[in-house]
Amino acid sequence: MRNYLIINASPRPKSTSLLLANMCKAYLDEHERQATVVSMYQGGGPDGLIDAIMGADVVVISGPCYVNTYPAAVIKLLTEWEKRACNGQIIYGMIQGGMPYSHTHKSGLNMLELFAAKNGLSYKGGFICGLGPLINGGTIDKLPNSKALRRQLTVFFANICNEAESGASVYERARMRVPALLARILANFMNRSIDKKYAARGYDACAESPYKTDNI
Ligand SMILES: Cc1cc2nc3c(=O)[nH]c(=O)nc-3n(C[C@H](O)[C@H](O)[C@H](O)COP(=O)(O)O)c2cc1C
Repeated sequence: MRNYLIINASPRPKSTSLLLANMCKAYLDEHERQATVVSMYQGGGPDGLIDAIMGADVVVISGPCYVNTYPAAVIKLLTEWEKRACNGQIIYGMIQGGMPYSHTHKSGLNMLELFAAKNGLSYKGGFICGLGPLINGGTIDKLPNSKALRRQLTVFFANICNEAESGASVYERARMRVPALLARILANFMNRSIDKKYAARGYDACAESPYKTDNI
């Protein structure tokens, strides 16, 4: 029987990444696949996971988006994985973050794709979900696009179950469209609140960056 390993890459005990990982496992269980969910931060961190990865046929990484990609611990895990003989596993990613867009989270999936290409693994696609903090490890029914999201997640899980390619259209069909005007108002609001926090701590948000260099 093929062995599916689903890695929860969120450090939070009750997290949206874990919820999605458990939803994926429930689908695979229903379809009589051997699936296990593990947390990356249990049992000594990423190093302890490598043996489990070596025993898996399909690896799914479900994690939050931290500064436009997976958390640094995922990069550490990939670095350790690379040191061991990669045995041709199939790899899928699930990444979710606060921003409702997909492009801001996509580099997480791109990283998995590049890692797979470099190490003889087979990257078969991923799923991007926005508004993760609204779910906050609870239920996806809290989202305005919950119906489409549930439907498209089922398509994604079926692709994993069948070890099939899962393209961007699968998650793009679930994405909530934010009207441009609303996005502009929200961006303005967020930028102002960040500037205010800077000012309260004595920083000038408009000052020239100390990292700016003419050599680039
Ligand atoms: C350090 C840090 C960086 C983050 N960076 C982003 C980001 O770049 N884009 C985004 O949309 N959300 C970002 N978030 C929000 C998280 O991705 C979001 O809260 C996610 O739902 C948390 O997932 P979890 O419940 O699985 O831990 C960040 C959160 C933290 C703590």
